[in-house]
Amino acid sequence: MEEKTIDESRQGEYLLLDHSSALPLGKPVKRLLLESYGCQMNFSDSEIVASILSKEGYITTRDPEEADLVLLNTCAIRDNAEVRIRGRLNYLRSIKKRKPGMTIGVLGCMAERLREKLLEEEKLVDLVVGPDAYRDLPNLLEQVEGGQKAVNVLLSREETYAEITPVRLNSNGISAFISIMRGCDNMCSFCVVPFTRGRERSRDPESIVNEARELFEQGYREVILLGQNVDSFKWNITTKGEIIEAGKATVNFAQLLEQVAQVNLELRVRFSTSHPKDMTDEVLHVMAAHENICKYVHLPVQSGHSDMLKRMNRGYTREWYLTRIAAIRKIMPDCAVSTDIITGFCGETEEEHHATLSLIDEVGYDMAYMFKYSERPRTLAERKFEDDVPEELKSQRLTEVIDTQLKNSGMRTRSYVGRAHRVLIEGTSKKSEDHFYGRTSQNAVIVFPKVEGVNPGEYVTVQATDSTTVTLTGSIV
Ligand code: SAH
Ligand code: SF4
Ligand code: F3S
Repeated sequence: MEEKTIDESRQGEYLLLDHSSALPLGKPVKRLLLESYGCQMNFSDSEIVASILSKEGYITTRDPEEADLVLLNTCAIRDNAEVRIRGRLNYLRSIKKRKPGMTIGVLGCMAERLREKLLEEEKLVDLVVGPDAYRDLPNLLEQVEGGQKAVNVLLSREETYAEITPVRLNSNGISAFISIMRGCDNMCSFCVVPFTRGRERSRDPESIVNEARELFEQGYREVILLGQNVDSFKWNITTKGEIIEAGKATVNFAQLLEQVAQVNLELRVRFSTSHPKDMTDEVLHVMAAHENICKYVHLPVQSGHSDMLKRMNRGYTREWYLTRIAAIRKIMPDCAVSTDIITGFCGETEEEHHATLSLIDEVGYDMAYMFKYSERPRTLAERKFEDDVPEELKSQRLTEVIDTQLKNSGMRTRSYVGRAHRVLIEGTSKKSEDHFYGRTSQNAVIVFPKVEGVNPGEYVTVQATDSTTVTLTGSIV
C-alpha cells in the first residue's frame, strides 16, 4: 500500500449536475465534464463552479468525447497528486487533437501553484483558474472562445462565495458539504495549502446557517462543515479577540456549531478539520451538549515527537496534543478520533518515528490518513531543511505506521460490537442489494439487512453484532 489519500475512492470521479436545475433561456446547451481531485474543500468548490456554470447554460456529462468543456479541479498537496493529474491531462490532450473545439481548463490548487506555466507546459490547456477566481469563469471562457488563453489566479482576502448556492454534485441527497471558511494562515513547514489557497477568511455565519436550513428542508439529514482549521473560524472578531464592528454579533466556531446544530435535531452535524493548537474545550462542550453533533473529531497530529512537531511548525508538542485527547475523552467518553500522519519528514530520526508509533497506540485512533513526506516548492521546509530521509526508509516507516494503525482501527471497531447505535441510512450496500449501509455518530460504517418501510435518509437503531477492521454488521432493533 503506497499511501492512503483523502476520499481515495472518490478521486477524479465524474460529477453529475442535476439536470432538472433551471437552465437559462436562450443560451445554447453546452456540455461540461468536471472532475475533482484532492480534499473535501475541492469537492465543495466544484459545487460552486457547477452553480456558476449552470447559469451559463452548461449541463454535465461523464464522457470526455462528448464534452465541450473539461475542467479538472486539482490538488497540489503531494507530488503524486500532481503526477496523476498530468497523466489525465495527457489523455485529454489526445482527445483534443481529434476534437480541437474542446476547451480544457485547470482549476484549484495546481492552477494556483503553477499559474501561466501550465499553459506553457501543457500546451493544450486553454484556461487556468485559481480557487478564488471562479466568479470570473464566464468572462474567462468568453476570452477562450475568442481564441485567447485565459488565466486568473488572483487570491482574495474576502472571497467566500457566501451567497452562491452550490449545485449538489454526485449527491446521495442525504449528506452535503458546507464550506465555512477558506485559506489557511498556519504555515506548517511541509504544507503548500497557504500558497494555493491564500489567507484565511471566515464566511458570514448567517449564510452558513441558512444553507444548512435549506438543505434540511430539501431532505438532507447531514451537513459537514469544512475548513482547513475550523477552530479558527471567527466572525467580526480579530485574532486578538477585539470586536471589529460594534453592535454586530461576534461568532466563534463553538457558537457557529451550536447555531447549525439548532437548525433541527434531525440534522446531523459533522466538521473537519480541527487543529490541535486551536481546538477549545468550548467546542467539545457544545459537541457533548447536542446529540445531533456527531461524536467524531479529526485531529491531525502529523508526528508523535515534539522536536519533529517543532520542525513542522505545528504550534504544539506531543504533551499538548495528549492533553487535547484527554479533554475529548473526558468531555465525550464515546467520541471517535482520527488523524493524519506524515512519515519521513526532514531529519526524521528512528526515535522520532518510534514516538509516532507509540502515540498511535496511546491515543487509539479509530482511523488515520497516512502519507509519505513529499517536498513541495515554496514551503518553509523546502527552503530551510533537506529532504534527507531516503525514499525506501519513508516507505518502510509508512508501512509500520499503517500496520500499527490497522491494529488500532480493528480494536476500535470491535469495541462498537454488542452495542446499539443510532444510524443514519445512506443507501444500499455496494456488496448486497438486500442490505443498507449507514454511519454511526462515530462515523463507523455499519451494514444491516433492509426492512420493509425503512428508507435511506431515515434514522434507525442498529444492534452491532460483528465487525471487520473498519466495518460493522448488525440488524435493526
Ligand atoms: N488542514 C489540515 C490538513 C490539510 S492537508 C490540517 O492542518 O491538518 C491534509 C494532510 O495532508 C495533512 O494533514 C498532512 O498529513 C498531509 N500533507 C500535507 N502536506 C504534505 C506533504 N508535503 N507531504 C505529505 N503529506 C502532506
Ligand atoms: Fe496546511 Fe497546516 Fe494549514 Fe493544515 S493547518 S492546511 S497542514 S498549513
Ligand atoms: Fe489538495 Fe488544495 Fe485540498 S492542495 S488537499 S486540494 S486544499
